[in-house]
Amino acid sequence: MKHFPIFLSLKGKTCIIIGGGSVAERKVESLLNAEAVVTVVSPQLSPQLSYLSAEKQIKHLNRCYQSQDIDQAFLVIAATDQTEVNRTIAADADKQNTLVNVVDDLKLCSFIVPSILDRSPVTIAVSTGGASPVLARQLRMKLETMIPSSCGELAALTEQYRERVKNKFSTIEERKAFWENVLKGTPAELVYAGQLQAARNLLDQLLDEDIDHPQVGEVYLVGAGPGDPDLLTFKAVRLMQRADVMVYDRLVSQPILDMANKNAQRIYVGKEKDNHAVPQDKINDLLVELAKQGKRVLRLKGGDPFIFGRGGEEIETLVEEGVPFQVVPGITAAAGCSSYAGIPLTHRDYAQSVTFATGHLKDGSVNLNWEQLSQPNHTLVFYMGLTGIAVISKQLIAHGMPKDTAAALVEQGTTRNQRVHIGTLESLPQLVKESGVRAPTLTIVGNVVQLHDKLNWYKPEQYQSSTEFTKHGKT
Ligand SMILES: C[S@@+](CC[C@H](N)C(=O)[O-])C[C@H]1O[C@@H](n2cnc3c(N)ncnc32)[C@H](O)[C@@H]1O
Repeated sequence: MKHFPIFLSLKGKTCIIIGGGSVAERKVESLLNAEAVVTVVSPQLSPQLSYLSAEKQIKHLNRCYQSQDIDQAFLVIAATDQTEVNRTIAADADKQNTLVNVVDDLKLCSFIVPSILDRSPVTIAVSTGGASPVLARQLRMKLETMIPSSCGELAALTEQYRERVKNKFSTIEERKAFWENVLKGTPAELVYAGQLQAARNLLDQLLDEDIDHPQVGEVYLVGAGPGDPDLLTFKAVRLMQRADVMVYDRLVSQPILDMANKNAQRIYVGKEKDNHAVPQDKINDLLVELAKQGKRVLRLKGGDPFIFGRGGEEIETLVEEGVPFQVVPGITAAAGCSSYAGIPLTHRDYAQSVTFATGHLKDGSVNLNWEQLSQPNHTLVFYMGLTGIAVISKQLIAHGMPKDTAAALVEQGTTRNQRVHIGTLESLPQLVKESGVRAPTLTIVGNVVQLHDKLNWYKPEQYQSSTEFTKHGKT
C-alpha cells in the first residue's frame, strides 16, 4: 500500500489553495464541506471562487504565491498550471512538514485526494494510489448505484441507539448480532423508505420487548421494467438482492431474474393468457402466507406494477391482512418500447395526448370507448392487444380514425430480441399474421409512428435465444 488512508478532521483548520481555476474550485468546495478555513492565493479567480470570496466564505490573496503564504497552513493544495511554482510550493511545504497535494503531480504529493462518495456521516473514499483517477471515479459511481441515498440517515439513527444497545447487551457478540439484524432487516429498510419514525418505533420495540427480529416479514411489490435490466431502478435492484423469496411471472426477463439474490427461493406463478399457472387470488394468499412466515418477499412484475399489472389487487389483500409492503414503480412497457423503437408518444407536430388501453378484457372481449380513442392528434398504446387486433382496427376505423394512420407492433421491446413492425391501422391484423409476432408485444397507433423511420436508434444484435422472457403466451 503506497498511501495510508485516513479521514482528516479539518474543522477550523487553515487550508491554503494556490490557483484560482476550475480545479482549485473543486478542491475549495470539498474543503468547505469539511468546514475548513480556506484561503485562495491567485491573481485570477473563476466566477464561482469570486462569488465565494465576495460572500466571505473564503479569503482571497490577489497575487502570485509567496513562500510565507503557507507558514500557518495545516494543509496546502497547489493547483496552478505552472510546474515551477507547484514545485516551489511542494518544497516549501515539505520543509515545514505541512501536508501538500500538487494536482496531477503524484511525485510532489505528501497526500492524495480520493474520489469521495458522501452520505454523511458515511463517507466512502476510493483511491487507485494516483494510478488512474478516472478509474477511481468510475468505481465511486458504481458504489453510488449500490448505496442507498439515505444510508447516512441510517448511520445517524444507529448512533442515537448505541448507548441503549450497549446497556441492554453486555457482550460484544450480542451487540454485533443485534446490529446485524437491524442493518439487514426491516428497520434499515424503513429508513431507506423514508419512514424514520416507524424505524425508531421498531427499534424501541426490539429493545423493549426482547424480540430479536420482527415476526412478520414484508412484501416488496417491484416493477421490473419491460426487459432491459439496465432499466431497473436502484431501489428495485437493492430489494431484489435482499429478498428471501421471489414470486415472479412471465413478463420478467431472464437477465433480470439473474440479478436477484441467488439464494432466494424462486416461485413462478405464470400468467399467460389462458394459462395462469397460479390464479390471482392464490397469488395474493401466497404473498400473505410467505410474509407471515417472517420472510422478505419480492413480488416481481413486468413493467410497472400499477399499470395493467394487478398490483393494486395484490396489495389490497396485504392491507387487509396487516402485512407491511413497499411498492417500487418500474418503467412501463409503453415508455420503454416507445423509447427503444424511436416513437415519441407525444410530439408537438403529431400528438398532444396519449392513452394507454388494454386490448383484452377479463372475459376475452375488447370493449373500449372507441369514440374517445379515435380523436385526432392522439396516440394510442394497446397492451395485450394481439388477439383483439382485428376488433381494435375495425372499431377505430368505424369511429372515424383514418385507415392509413401509422401503426407499430413492438415485440419484446427493450430486449436484445426487439423487433418493430410498421404498418397502418387497416393493415394491423394482416401484419400480425405475416410477421409471426409473439407476446409480449405492444401496439402503438397514431401519427407519431411515422417518426420511427427517422428516430429509430436501437438496433440490437439478435440474441442466441429467440426470447429473453420466461415463457410465452399470445396476448
Ligand atoms: C399484463 S400487461 C403488463 C404490463 C406491465 N405491468 C407494464 O407496466 O408494462 C402485459 C402486456 O404488456 C406489454 N408488454 C410488456 N412488456 C413488453 C415488452 N418488453 N415488449 C412489448 N410489450 C410488452 C404487452 O402488450 C403485454 O401483453
